[in-house]
Amino acid sequence: MNASPTPVIVDCDPGHDDVFGLWLAAGHPSLDLRAVTTVGGNVPLEFTRHNARVALTVAGVHDVPVAAGASGPLVRPLQTAEWIHGANGLGGPDLPEPTVPLDPRTATELMVDVLAEASEPVAIVATGPITNVAVLLRDRPDLVGRIREVVWMGGSTERGNATPYAEFNALVDPEALDLVVRSGVPFTMVGLNVTHSALVTPAVRERVAAIPTRTGAFGDELLDFFCRTNDEVFGMPDGPLHDPVAVAVLADPACVRTVRTRLDVELAGTETAGATSVDFDGMLGREPNASVAVALDVPRFWDTMIGALARLA
Ligand code: RIB
Ligand code: CA
Repeated sequence: MNASPTPVIVDCDPGHDDVFGLWLAAGHPSLDLRAVTTVGGNVPLEFTRHNARVALTVAGVHDVPVAAGASGPLVRPLQTAEWIHGANGLGGPDLPEPTVPLDPRTATELMVDVLAEASEPVAIVATGPITNVAVLLRDRPDLVGRIREVVWMGGSTERGNATPYAEFNALVDPEALDLVVRSGVPFTMVGLNVTHSALVTPAVRERVAAIPTRTGAFGDELLDFFCRTNDEVFGMPDGPLHDPVAVAVLADPACVRTVRTRLDVELAGTETAGATSVDFDGMLGREPNASVAVALDVPRFWDTMIGALARLA
């Protein structure tokens, strides 16, 4: 007897890889996508809130509310990443007019309603700057018990991709990350050290392009652009598809190995703000406070991702 699907909220900043994270959440039978919330990140909120609706429209998902959240970080100015995602955040394909409406509630209001209405705790997967989750936990600490866990694509146990020591999502809003980790909510970090294994190789491109659906065709155009910009910017022609790896932690846990350890984030560093300090060896003598992804079963991950895509329109 299969367990009932895990209820999940996806908070995102689409962004090419965010779209694949949304599609994995919408298409995988182990997950029940209850809501999508959006945040300023890869591109400003006016685009990310639109792009999430486009992603669900393309995939034929019309029963999931989409809300707009924070336009920028808690205290810092917004930094964006058009150099990877294009000016509108989904460079490459022509974007259809979304038929999925923008929910009138804010991201926090929608999250609160979903948590309140659920018969069991709800998981939150965040694939952008974690500002919306921080606002929820700051304003409604009483709801921590209704959150199954927070899984976040961001950070790194090694080097950064936005500064030498900071990954982009962590760099944009390190104060939000610090607040979420300190809240005591069960937290899993899925960093670059793992997502850099989720490479969109020519073989992956062929598998996506072979999916005979609107989602397959649109996804192929997204990946074409994403691989080109990752090659131009990072010399990585097989672009790392970061965000669906975080969703895979919930969809198919055997894809990702995690360890329980100590996670802290640098807030004050002139050169290191946003760096995620992962104390695997307990050098600091602090209590473990997070699970951190350390390995990806790459073939299994792509089978999970492609399988979910094939279930969409
Ligand atoms: O560093 C990669 C992360 O930053 C991904 O979530 C990407 O979409 C951007 O948000
Ligand atoms: Ca993202």
